[in-house]
Amino acid sequence: MDPRLNPYTPNAGARPPALVGRDAELAAFEILLERLKRGHTEQSLMITGLRGVGKTVLLTEFEAMARAGGWISVEAEITKNDAFGPRMARLARRALLQTAPQERWGERMRRAAGILKSFHITFSPSEGSLTAGLDIDPQAGLADSGYLSDDLTDLFVALGEAAVEQQTGVAFLIDEVQFFSTDELEALIMALHKTVQRSLPITLVGAGLPQLPRLAGEAKSYAERLFKFPRIAQLDLKGDARVALTRPAEDLGVEFTPEAVTEIIAYTEGYPYFIQEYGKIIWNLAPIGEPIGLATAHRARALVEAKLDESFFRARVARTTDLERQYIQAMARIGPGPHRTGDVAEAMRRRSEQLGPTRARLIDKGLLYTPGHGLTAFTVPQFDRYIKRTYVEEVD
Ligand SMILES: Nc1ncnc2c1ncn2[C@@H]1O[C@H](COP(=O)(O)OP(=O)(O)OP(=O)(O)O)[C@@H](O)[C@H]1O
Ligand SMILES: [Mg+2]
Repeated sequence: MDPRLNPYTPNAGARPPALVGRDAELAAFEILLERLKRGHTEQSLMITGLRGVGKTVLLTEFEAMARAGGWISVEAEITKNDAFGPRMARLARRALLQTAPQERWGERMRRAAGILKSFHITFSPSEGSLTAGLDIDPQAGLADSGYLSDDLTDLFVALGEAAVEQQTGVAFLIDEVQFFSTDELEALIMALHKTVQRSLPITLVGAGLPQLPRLAGEAKSYAERLFKFPRIAQLDLKGDARVALTRPAEDLGVEFTPEAVTEIIAYTEGYPYFIQEYGKIIWNLAPIGEPIGLATAHRARALVEAKLDESFFRARVARTTDLERQYIQAMARIGPGPHRTGDVAEAMRRRSEQLGPTRARLIDKGLLYTPGHGLTAFTVPQFDRYIKRTYVEEVD
């Protein structure tokens, strides 16, 4: 069919035409915003899930909801080795400048701008451009101690008070939260804790890999009282996954046969990204004027697999060392997981302790996570299948 009309969205963070199966998370976010705005406290959200399940899409949807509700929202994607102080200063500046034009600033806004300036001078003195648009003196004694958690707390509280003054709220929407270091996460949690104690309309909603609850808990034991950690996963095979596949086509007057739907959903196991990739390829292959059938689904299969290998799986292996890859191969050999770390070591004929650093690096790179004590699993769905088909001679 006409590729120009293809409705599927196999791109990172791209809003799918049918955003299904996420009603609970969307409702939770709506309640969070409403409660904070009314001066109530509420646990914030950290969305967790494997690669490609739709975390970024959900955050983007949250952003749209926040804006529609009159909130100031600022988004950021965390990458490794990104300097934390300057990044927080930039985000706070964006929030502040969106809150109101300078001619409408009241006392609280000016104070927040002064504190932001102190924070900036303390943590990113070499980055001059940030202070542009902040025509105000630094606030001595606040956000200038050099202790990240104290100073970030000053900044968040000042921002929250400024938001109250302007009758709005500030939502930070942070993607890939697992890439924060423990110190950075601790500072964020502490700062947010203070704004909750003061019932200020400021919140931080995040998304990241499934190790997030553990990382947050290690950074600060009370993290679980500040955040809910909803886990999003595959779409339900009998309902939502089918809708995600069929509705975008149906909206354009194109049907799938039930057999084709069953075949595609079984292959994708309901993973949103795989559904989009399959949908996109099969649309382009399918003949015009008849329902998309099983034969086309079979024909598309090899193309889908090649596309997934190239765009989703391969780059992740490319970032590993030989030993790390051997570790992944050993896991794949045993099965989809989660695996006991002892079993992986045994499959490699080594002792668990010897492999500890390798496993830690793979977690650090975002390829593995720890679903429970002594367990290891892939963060990438169907990764075991990819490794097996790609490294056949080494795996078998
Ligand atoms: N609820 C949904 N229904 C259908 N498709 C979806 C849904 N959520 C996300 N998708 C699709 O899935 C793909 C992955 O979405 P997204 O980039 O948000 O995942 P992610 O969890 O952020 O992945 P990563 O961990 O790799 O960043 C996109 O192609 C998107 O269009
Ligand atoms: Mg993402």
